[in-house]
Amino acid sequence: MSGPYLHGHHASVLRSHSWRTVDNSAPHLIPYLKPDLKVLDVGCGPGTITVDLASRLPQGFVYAIDPSADVIEKARQHAQEKRVTNVRFEVGDIHNWQGLDGVKEGSFDVVHAHQVLQHLQDPLGCMKEMVRLTKKGGIVAVRDCDYGAMDWYPEHPGMQKWKDLYIKVAKGLKAYPNMGKMLHSIALQAGLPRQDIEASIGSWCFSTPEERAWVSSSHDQLTTSTDSDSVVRSLGGPNGEERLQTKGAGRQPRD
Ligand SMILES: C[S@@+](CC[C@H](N)C(=O)[O-])C[C@H]1O[C@@H](n2cnc3c(N)ncnc32)[C@H](O)[C@@H]1O
Repeated sequence: MSGPYLHGHHASVLRSHSWRTVDNSAPHLIPYLKPDLKVLDVGCGPGTITVDLASRLPQGFVYAIDPSADVIEKARQHAQEKRVTNVRFEVGDIHNWQGLDGVKEGSFDVVHAHQVLQHLQDPLGCMKEMVRLTKKGGIVAVRDCDYGAMDWYPEHPGMQKWKDLYIKVAKGLKAYPNMGKMLHSIALQAGLPRQDIEASIGSWCFSTPEERAWVSSSHDQLTTSTDSDSVVRSLGGPNGEERLQTKGAGRQPRD
């Protein structure tokens, strides 16, 4: 993997990611889905969006990659449980896909990434590879959140502190926690013509007591995620931020 992945793959993170479906996380793709499409899902995580996509493409196929072998295993299990067979999960990095069997330049109708670019130190490089892997006339579909835009009521000092800390840590790792609003610009820089770029906005809303409890339980990532433990500790002391810059940038990811 090209840089540290802040969230890591702790159970609390996977609980949150496994809730995701095409309806709640990739509705922008639905109008473009055709039964025989060949799709690449970049940074598929536990694969719930991937498997949902595959189940909507009865004559098509979804190839999914993620650098974490553990999470790829979980994604394979999920596909088996759902009895979806037109999907293939492989350990792989978007910056280094050349060795992957079956992945070729210009070979996918759709190349999709959900909540991935924000975690990368080189999101433009990722976008360029995604464009390269897409067939002429195909679709590159990316969706990312914007931590700066997350909001709630009533105001809550603890939640505000969590958000500020998350953004600080992510930026310290040279990632882009506010990527959502930057995506059109990254697409332009990758060479896509302005008239071909379609921007849209979506939201997740957690309102009922059950939804709030669930989303809160998945946001202890900064203290439970294996990748972020040392980062959080490094913020604690004097000059913590300076130590974060050096430590985060050089640290090897565990997954
Ligand atoms: C926030 S998760 C999103 C997972 C999934 N797309 C979803 O929305 O449920 C980001 C994923 O990107 C993966 N990732 C990080 N760097 C990557 C890279 N260079 N190439 C491909 N995937 C990467 C991580 O391992 C992680 O599983």
